[in-house]
Amino acid sequence: MRKTVATLLLLVFCLAAGAQSVVEKMSLEEKARCVVGFKRALWPPTNNGIPGRTTPLPACGIPSLVLADGTAGVRLSRRGQERATAFPADITLASSWSTEVVREVGAAVGDEALAFGVDVMLAPGMNIIRNPLCGRIFEYFSEDPVITGKMGAAYIEGLQSRGIGGCAKHFTCNSQETNRGHNDVRIAEKALREIYLRGFEICVREAKPWTVMSSYNSVNGAPVQEQRHLLTDILRGEWGFDGAVMTDWSIVPHNTAAQLHAGNDLFMPGADHQVEAIISGVKDGTIAESDLDLACERIIALAEKCADKKPAAGPDLEAGRAVAHNAACESAVLLENNGMLPLSGGGRAALFGVRSYDLVARGAGAGFVVCPPVTQIYAAFRDKGIPTDEEIEDLYLKYVAFAEADIRLNEKIKVHIGLPLLPELALSKKLVESAAERDDYAVITLGRTSQEGTDRKLKDDYYLSDTEKALLGDVCEAFHARGKKVAVILNIAGIVETESWKSLPDAILNVWLPGQDGGAAVADLLFGKVNPSGRLAVTFPKDYFNVPGAEDFPYGDLSEGRNYDYTCYDEGCNVGYRHYLSSGVQPSYPFGYGLSYTEFKYSGAKVRTSSKKTVVSVTVTNSGAAAGKEAVGVYVASPDGIPELKAFAKTGLLAPGSSETLTFEIPADYLKTFNEGKNCWEKRRGRLNVLIGADPSDPKIKLTK
Ligand code: GLC
Repeated sequence: MRKTVATLLLLVFCLAAGAQSVVEKMSLEEKARCVVGFKRALWPPTNNGIPGRTTPLPACGIPSLVLADGTAGVRLSRRGQERATAFPADITLASSWSTEVVREVGAAVGDEALAFGVDVMLAPGMNIIRNPLCGRIFEYFSEDPVITGKMGAAYIEGLQSRGIGGCAKHFTCNSQETNRGHNDVRIAEKALREIYLRGFEICVREAKPWTVMSSYNSVNGAPVQEQRHLLTDILRGEWGFDGAVMTDWSIVPHNTAAQLHAGNDLFMPGADHQVEAIISGVKDGTIAESDLDLACERIIALAEKCADKKPAAGPDLEAGRAVAHNAACESAVLLENNGMLPLSGGGRAALFGVRSYDLVARGAGAGFVVCPPVTQIYAAFRDKGIPTDEEIEDLYLKYVAFAEADIRLNEKIKVHIGLPLLPELALSKKLVESAAERDDYAVITLGRTSQEGTDRKLKDDYYLSDTEKALLGDVCEAFHARGKKVAVILNIAGIVETESWKSLPDAILNVWLPGQDGGAAVADLLFGKVNPSGRLAVTFPKDYFNVPGAEDFPYGDLSEGRNYDYTCYDEGCNVGYRHYLSSGVQPSYPFGYGLSYTEFKYSGAKVRTSSKKTVVSVTVTNSGAAAGKEAVGVYVASPDGIPELKAFAKTGLLAPGSSETLTFEIPADYLKTFNEGKNCWEKRRGRLNVLIGADPSDPKIKLTK
């Protein structure tokens, strides 16, 4: 898949002449082919799993650019022999509250993309997590636009530092999978601007992504891919985006002329009827050739950026595993701990739950990765020399082997989107009691996966299944009856219900989808080699129906009408923590929540405001007994408003007693609010309340400026 030297030399020569002069020499057919993906014949993915590429035009010196999924690493196909690192999913990375961690993952994905001859990674996913049941929740970062924008920018900066294009997707409001090709999002301009576009805006302004992917859905009655107001007036006119816009893998026929005029430069995966439509459209005047020329120039400019790459080496999968491991450790969120953790390593562990033996390392669909063997939790315990209950282990391993064989025999395994999840194994009380008798503590791992194209369900997905509830109850009862402790590991693609059972175990550690080295990360976190420092970037509600807009989401079986043909975002800006803070409804775990094995104190907070920016600084001191890292958020609220996150950062590893001063710069523009009546951004009035701390419902410091 590597480019020939001749192609590169030809390209450099032609491009040196300038994109415009190249386009002037192109025929109408060459131009049409330049902006349409290189035939659907490549779909489903060929041996290497690549979902698409641009059309090669050697006579014009334009190479074919290879576009690869996905958000957790280079997605190859099982049919091939090659493997790529499965990094933690976007929702996992967001919980690190560290743009440095995310940038490092982006760079590592870029290194592997280089090795596989990829030019543009179709990542990161940057839609807002409006609802826990969104099928692609794991491919997105947060309910908050600042975390979304900053993490997306960091990921893309990492990718592009390796000469690999990033792709901010799916622009915009692709926050459900049900009927994703036709669903019309009905949303007020203020919410669109302040919540659903702001993340993309921050990413475009700060990271300058080489591409943006326009989404399948419609917004306020028109397909996004046909809205010039979004793809040109706002994206390019207001934010200064200077890259190429590609369509998502358009599963529904669109008006090609309208798409081109709206500002799409590349029609993916591409079909001959689109080439023909463009040629006939230019000939009959329904397509302005100037629109086509502009799109060609942007594709040529993209090819020029992609040509400037370091020679490929690798892939270095051991280096990838190390980056994935570190990111998983930084992103895990400790939700409960009554002193059970960190574990001392003494005694024997009973490891329950299929996921302790078959970790959900990554999600399915475009976010899937065919990776080297996943580090399992049970194996990581063994690698640390921690005694585990072999009778329990043997039972689960046999079940996993049988269940997987059964799936392979009876289900068509879609080679590039992963296996369906094995159902949880029901254990008898007698077996649990016998384990409680002979073992010293228990760890139960509960898992969830998810995938594009379908949304999650309430039963046995958001809510625990009866089998999981029975396992949890039986293990806690049997071990607690003997004065022994139980920890739960959440290995989940998205938010699950926690309120009804979170008081049962002695500790809960949420590792989300931790990537291929997740088992080793879990062991390092449980035994204190790493002190958990993650914070939630989404709210865990007490119940699904506490979610703002819960009824405005397809949580049941639908085939038409509300939440299928159209979805009303009537909650407006009250997404996630904004809702819980303004309504007073208490969540199970709030946005920004996370525990540590140590404590931190805050001091010396300062706020300085100028016409261009507001600078906030604060000193964080480790006042506990274990080294650790602290994530800090800065929230700003108008006198009568609710706090909104405007900046965040994480300290380095602080030894007990040591301190670090964090400084946050908030551009004046990011403090503005959108005035719907005047259709413009405007400065907030009155004094600002500044809250410092990761959890806005429990700020460490409050200031008024
Ligand atoms: C899919 C997804 C998109 C992915 C593309 C290529 O439909 O929506 O995220 O990058 O097609 O696989």
